[in-house]
Amino acid sequence: MPIINASQFITELDRSENLCDQLALALRQKIQQGILEAGTRLPATRALANELEVSRTTTQLAYDQLSAEGYIVSRRGCGTFIADMAATIASLSPKPASGNYSGLSAYGQSLLKTDFYPYFDTVAKPEKDSDFDFRCGLPDANLFPHKQWLKAQRKILRSTNLNHMHFLQAQGVAELRKNLVRHLKRNRGLHCREEQILVTSGFQQNLQIMMRILCEKRDQILTEYPGYPVVETMANAEGLQVSKVEVDESGISVSDLEKKSNSNARLLYVTPSHQYPLGVVLPVERRRALIAWANKRNTFILEDDYDGEFRYAGAPIEALMSLDDNERVVFMGSFSKTMSVGIRLGFMVLPESLVEAAAKARWCMGGFNQVIDQLTMAALIADGTYDKHVKRCKLIYSKRRKELIGALSKSLKCSYKITGDQAGLHLTIWIPGLNKTKMLKLIAMTETAGLRISALVNRQFSGAVSE
Ligand SMILES: Cc1ncc(COP(=O)(O)O)c(C=O)c1O
Repeated sequence: MPIINASQFITELDRSENLCDQLALALRQKIQQGILEAGTRLPATRALANELEVSRTTTQLAYDQLSAEGYIVSRRGCGTFIADMAATIASLSPKPASGNYSGLSAYGQSLLKTDFYPYFDTVAKPEKDSDFDFRCGLPDANLFPHKQWLKAQRKILRSTNLNHMHFLQAQGVAELRKNLVRHLKRNRGLHCREEQILVTSGFQQNLQIMMRILCEKRDQILTEYPGYPVVETMANAEGLQVSKVEVDESGISVSDLEKKSNSNARLLYVTPSHQYPLGVVLPVERRRALIAWANKRNTFILEDDYDGEFRYAGAPIEALMSLDDNERVVFMGSFSKTMSVGIRLGFMVLPESLVEAAAKARWCMGGFNQVIDQLTMAALIADGTYDKHVKRCKLIYSKRRKELIGALSKSLKCSYKITGDQAGLHLTIWIPGLNKTKMLKLIAMTETAGLRISALVNRQFSGAVSE
């Protein structure tokens, strides 16, 4: 058989990447595709190196690799050839995936069926530096306390206590749980024990744990409408039945909740501190009514303390869980808004009866959170840095809020009403007579002007970051 030349199996090399790997890959693919047949003689390593303008070591290493894999054989004094077994090896090699695997579990299949847009693989940041991004759920990343975080982390890493590195407790680092107990008592009026706290990677994991330990397929989960769309997506992925309960100007409607809930109702998701997205703070009568409903139904309430730390007028409102004396409420906290979504750190305060199952479920989801980050957060809470940081953020956000409301009053020529400006990172502007067509036009105009907003069209979100 004639000797082939390099151009028959490789057309170009990217000189910024590993040349040996590229060469081996090109040859392997041509053999697997049957383009280079058994017995074909390959150029000598020196000739190939000259032809490709690479070092001889590169060609030698590529041949060695393919020889070790069984694709080629070298015969002393004769040269290097495609091995007789190459076709067999190629047929045993995994084929490139085409479409999804057909043997997926019911869960795997429901993941494929569920629409994950726009959370999955997208970056929730302004496209241009000059953009003004007013979309729901975006804290200012520049406010992250870099210096304090670094200082605390350095101190932890310098400590000689290596036990931290062997930490295996799914419930979370004791220091963090202890400090959270004090923090919650002081700031959220919530009295709980360290044993009730489970450290997690944030709200999404909290929700997944609860769905996993409390729901069977097709059970009902009730959520606010309009509400946090992540809940619906995740519940769909778990095969649950999602029912949406109307939110009026005082928050979630208890009469609609009575109407929508069925005998399979297992969970109710609410954002009582600052309703997402309307911004209503749930009044105490409704809080009591929700707890009475949950007691009657034997259902659990998932209290997402969304924006709970950012209350501008007066003291923070007590957590819904603090009104519950029948183990019906699960309090869910996250550091995504007060610190950064990137640290993936959150927690739950659980009724005692759910602690063991929830901690075991957490362990099944990757064990536990990164220990150094947990210790860092614990240190920042313990020495008051976290409280100071939240206070500073609150001042900055409240100033921006005032400026925004002032600018709106000067420039918005139509009649409008603002709600939800007492707490949190967003407010809602109601413009009467804005139908869907006009709203879509408005969104397009804001985008052209380098401004990004989340809009509610017929109670459906459009353009929300965490939509
Ligand atoms: C309503 C609501 N709850 C909770 C969170 C926090 O989610 P996580 O802790 O998964 O980042 C967000 C984040 O955008 C949110 O919008």
